[in-house]
Amino acid sequence: MVYVTRKAHFSAAHRLFNPEFSDEENERVFDKCNNPRGHGHNYTIEVTVAGEPDRKTGYVIDLKKLGELIDREILTKVDHKHLNFDVVELRGIIPTAENITLVFWKMLAPHITEGKLYKVRVAESDNNYAEYLGT
Ligand code: NI
Repeated sequence: MVYVTRKAHFSAAHRLFNPEFSDEENERVFDKCNNPRGHGHNYTIEVTVAGEPDRKTGYVIDLKKLGELIDREILTKVDHKHLNFDVVELRGIIPTAENITLVFWKMLAPHITEGKLYKVRVAESDNNYAEYLGT
């Protein structure tokens, strides 16, 4: 099995907030990410597809096509948006890197027709990221 990865970047605003929590709890749990009017991150997304290289092309999946797919299915919906308000797929979901990873998986998986979606990684900064491997 060979794993190939395509990386992309987007910028978005979010606010981590749970309506079931009191203001104090929200502040304690989410700290700076609870800022009432939101704040921004420069996100990196990495999508990994697993498979055997095609005998004719040598590709698991054409990474240019995977890039176009990420662009169409994800970036056009989230880049320069507010994740709490502007993205239908994230509605009612606390937009942590963890939850974003799960949602992006669902947005991408049906469109991967060469190889198999193996991993989606979302980083909010250089220091941390969340990964979903589909189970
Ligand atoms: Ni944040």
